Amino acid sequence: MMKRLAIHITLFLPLIFLLVQLFIIEVNDPVKYIYTISGIVSTVILFFSITISLIKKRVNLLKYRRAIGLWGFFYALVHMINFVVFDAQFDIYFILEETFDKPFIYLGMIAFFILLFMAATSTRKLFRKYSKYHASVYLALLLITIHFVMAQKTIDIDMFCYIAVILVIGYYKLLQIIVKNSKVYTS
Ligand code: HEM
Repeated sequence: MMKRLAIHITLFLPLIFLLVQLFIIEVNDPVKYIYTISGIVSTVILFFSITISLIKKRVNLLKYRRAIGLWGFFYALVHMINFVVFDAQFDIYFILEETFDKPFIYLGMIAFFILLFMAATSTRKLFRKYSKYHASVYLALLLITIHFVMAQKTIDIDMFCYIAVILVIGYYKLLQIIVKNSKVYTS
């Protein structure tokens, strides 16, 4: 119970941080700032959600994976709302033009709809039926990685660090899948 509460509080903190920066500190370019914070926080949470099964022997957070995944979706939703409400100001032509003109926007859109589908089918009842489609999180993460690399105007050392972390997680995930499949095959 305490652990669940601690997880919720931790994942709620970036939102508080964002609101403080926007309303108290008043950053220069709020729209860009919301994109950066919500995009990075969502990406980190979602990558963390797929590493939970890798670290389960050391720290078992499997019980909280759904809650963590939903927080990842929540920040993706903030990112999407920022696009529709503050960036596009509900201008449907702007939304369509940006979406079809800029490949990084439609890759982000596809990723967002995959996450929306997963969030909507994460209830116990629906998860039983749709769990096999939840592997599509890997496709979403691939698209998100391409999306955020393409969104950068300059390539700096931080980005290489992000990519290195993503490759390490991807490598261990792939090993895990190969070992799991070979066990199914031999038993
Ligand atoms: C509805 C679909 C999406 C749209 C329209 C969108 C739009 C954008 C835009 C315009 C930027 C550039 C911001 C700037 O620096 O000016 C951006 C950056 C970014 N987006 Fe998205 N995005 C979408 C989906 C996603 C999703 C689903 C994720 C992750 C879960 C994500 C993660 C990121 C990240 C990490 C950045 C880089 C932030 C930075 O370094 O400043 N985006 N997005």
